[in-house]
Amino acid sequence: MDYLTFFLAILYMYKALCEEVFWDTTVKLAENMTLECVYPSMNTLTQMEWFKINMMKDESIALFNPTYGVIVRKPYADRVYFSNSTNASNDMSLSFHNASEADIGFYYCSLHTFPHGPWKKMIQVVPSDTFEVAVPSTIQTVSELGKNVTLTCQSQMQWQFQEVTWEKIQPHQIDLLTSCNLSQGSSYTSKYPRQILSNCSQGMRRTFITMPLATASDSGLYRCCFKASTGETETFTIRLTLTEGKTNNHYILFVAGGAALLLLLALLITIATVISYKRRRRRQKRGLFKEYWDTQNKAASNHRSPVPTNQPSDGTGEDIYVNYPNFFRRPKTRV
Ligand SMILES: *[C@@H]1O[C@H](CO)[C@@H](O)[C@H](O)[C@H]1NC(C)=O
Ligand SMILES: *[C@@H]1O[C@H](CO)[C@@H](O)[C@H](O)[C@H]1NC(C)=O
Ligand SMILES: *[C@@H]1O[C@H](CO)[C@@H](O)[C@H](O)[C@H]1NC(C)=O
Ligand SMILES: *[C@@H]1O[C@H](CO)[C@@H](O)[C@H](O)[C@H]1NC(C)=O
Ligand SMILES: *[C@@H]1O[C@H](CO)[C@@H](O)[C@H](O)[C@H]1NC(C)=O
Ligand SMILES: *[C@@H]1O[C@H](CO)[C@@H](O)[C@H](O)[C@H]1NC(C)=O
Ligand SMILES: *[C@@H]1O[C@H](CO)[C@@H](O)[C@H](O)[C@H]1NC(C)=O
Repeated sequence: MDYLTFFLAILYMYKALCEEVFWDTTVKLAENMTLECVYPSMNTLTQMEWFKINMMKDESIALFNPTYGVIVRKPYADRVYFSNSTNASNDMSLSFHNASEADIGFYYCSLHTFPHGPWKKMIQVVPSDTFEVAVPSTIQTVSELGKNVTLTCQSQMQWQFQEVTWEKIQPHQIDLLTSCNLSQGSSYTSKYPRQILSNCSQGMRRTFITMPLATASDSGLYRCCFKASTGETETFTIRLTLTEGKTNNHYILFVAGGAALLLLLALLITIATVISYKRRRRRQKRGLFKEYWDTQNKAASNHRSPVPTNQPSDGTGEDIYVNYPNFFRRPKTRV
């Protein structure tokens, strides 16, 4: 619980994210920051270059060639380096040592691979104060490592939507996972290094992403955003927690154990009392117990999401829900 509150408190969201321009990644300015660039690994890199977008002409920052090595341009020498943070041969991420306000702006990593040809990833670096502190109403969801995890969201508004996007949100950056143009039914190819499956068709009002064989790094916050032609947006935030499995059983064991203990207590009390009182007393205990859990469950479902995720549609709107095999609905923090 504390961890969750803490995370939400430090979570910064960039206001302008659901706007026109396509940025594969939005990075919060920090003294030490990394611009991630991991290209599809099945391709062979021939050459790559980092640029900053300037008014007149894009400015070259650094260059990498598998044969000739690395060149960092003069103004950036001693300020940037290829960090290879994932230790993968296809990681061309660029890190800054001592970034300042002057480094706010737009960047891209541009490369050529054989046989696929050009590949480009667009990144924007934004001032830290344009990331806003937000405590979003978050849908909690838990799944197991190694499973195919699917997150689904469905629009509840009757607006005419143009676009739906999915993003992964981290405290220091936001990655675009998919973007579907709803008037064309065509989707944007994500530069996110992890495989994401999704569907995209004209005018669809329900969207999903599937992450095959989930790993620990897939835990975190995801956001889907429906964008209307009028500029209005409808956004859902989902927190995905991945566990080693057996989470549901802990909870059930706890409830069963608690109930057994309470029954034993009631039994001891009733043995010590007059037989004519026995029945009434036990009924009271059970009544209290049931009421306690009812309120607890109600509280839990209020926290979970703006719309109850485990109730059938009331006909006026549609459900938002998150699904995957063995859906575990109760927040983990109740355990
Ligand atoms: C940035 O990195 C340097 C060297 O690793 C370190 O001394 C410094 O504290 C870091 N700054 C921040 C804000 O983390
Ligand atoms: C990154 O590190 C790994 C392992 O240390 C190495 O195999 C790989 O070639 C490196 N990638 C680049 C681009 O230097
Ligand atoms: C990358 O490899 C180096 C040694 O080559 C190792 O020290 C470092 O911990 C590795 N980093 C990651 C993130 O695996
Ligand atoms: C970082 O940059 C500031 C000015 O931009 C400079 O005064 C400071 O010495 C730099 N620090 C390092 C470690 O390069
Ligand atoms: C997970 O997805 C892969 C395709 O990405 C599929 O082949 C596999 O059967 C799926 N596994 C489960 C348990 O659904
Ligand atoms: C969707 O595609 C149409 C037709 O190409 C285009 O006019 C429109 O701007 C696109 N919408 C978005 C949000 O990219
Ligand atoms: C997209 O996925 C949603 C959720 O699974 C489904 O209801 C919808 O029919 C799918 N659309 C298409 C065109 O496959």
